[in-house]
Amino acid sequence: VRTDVAVVGGGPAGLLLSHLLDRAGVGTVVLDHRSHHEIATTVRAGILEQDSVRLLVESGASDRVLTEGEEHRGIELAFGGASHRIDFQELVGASVWLYPQTSVFADLAEARQAAGGDVRFGVSDVEVDGVEGDAPVVRFVGADGSRQEVRPRYVVGADGSHSTCRALVPATARRQYHREYPFAWFGILCEAPRSAPELVYCRSERGFALVSQRSETVQRMYFQCDPDEDVSGWSDDRIWDELQTRVGANGHTLVEGPVTDRAVLRFRSVVHEPMRYGRLLLAGDAAHTVPPTGAKGLNLALADVRVLAQCLQDAVRRRDAAGEDALDGYTERALARVWKAQHFSSWMTHLLHRPPGESDVEEQRQLAELRGLVESTAGRAYLAEGYTGWPEARG
Ligand code: DHB
Repeated sequence: VRTDVAVVGGGPAGLLLSHLLDRAGVGTVVLDHRSHHEIATTVRAGILEQDSVRLLVESGASDRVLTEGEEHRGIELAFGGASHRIDFQELVGASVWLYPQTSVFADLAEARQAAGGDVRFGVSDVEVDGVEGDAPVVRFVGADGSRQEVRPRYVVGADGSHSTCRALVPATARRQYHREYPFAWFGILCEAPRSAPELVYCRSERGFALVSQRSETVQRMYFQCDPDEDVSGWSDDRIWDELQTRVGANGHTLVEGPVTDRAVLRFRSVVHEPMRYGRLLLAGDAAHTVPPTGAKGLNLALADVRVLAQCLQDAVRRRDAAGEDALDGYTERALARVWKAQHFSSWMTHLLHRPPGESDVEEQRQLAELRGLVESTAGRAYLAEGYTGWPEARG
């Protein structure tokens, strides 16, 4: 098969790219080794920035985000015995939308199917060759077991944090920034009504907790834990005790219900550069991972794709040196936002988590930072601006 762009990875980043390029008359083939079912049922985050929503809606990828998603005009910051509202609308005139990543994926997959897009789930042995030349090739085994190949002009690696495409950039041409954190999140889904109208980000003596939501009847919550925590040691009762203790100290009470999913999520800050090498371009988690506090991961992936779709469209249409230059600018444009999000996610993480062995000075400093933040209109606006997402023009 010949096509303009082969996209390795059929998650939200790969599918949105395929959707945007298709609308611009650029052909794509999307490959993923996972099944549609596997991607659709892997629990991920649930907060979309204002511009992520606009991109999904204006490109015709999803109307459901507006009808089934829920606008959140602020969050609660709970610490030191009280809860403080950060009013995004009042501070920066923006909102975020609660709409799970699994729904974003489902909408994009449906839109691709409706438009007759070539998206192949459940393929195996994907091998990419020749990205340093001008005739790359992608070989794979189809879901039916047959060997196949795609000959595209460009290859996009949107294949997640364990990206195999990324490894095609030679060690001498790439740089990796990497940082581990000494804690993780214990994440649960539960069957219960909502405990609060908005998300509650909580700093407590026993560590961080986050009260999020999925629907009227399903809720998502997290609490800071050890990266090596074993989920099998946690009964529903023990989980609820831990969560209630953390939020209870700051004026919140949770409505309990059966825990239907539990997992430990380790977190890291990672950036791989460059995001372009020859005919290969990386997008989303394949190029960067942020700690989860603030839910930037999916939003960053969508922002990469917005820029990449423009660059690829130019490159494919022009087929000349100026088109190739458009691709050169991709790394710089995308990374400007990536590093802002790295900082924001790491800042929100350190604002609310308690590292093991924290000193008494550090504990008081953290509480003072939180108080200073909520008492300052500028401080609250800084948080609101980062949380709802920086405007497109600024990267
Ligand atoms: C969720 C995840 C986050 O990392 C966050 O900051 C807010 C919400 C979520 O899964 O709902």
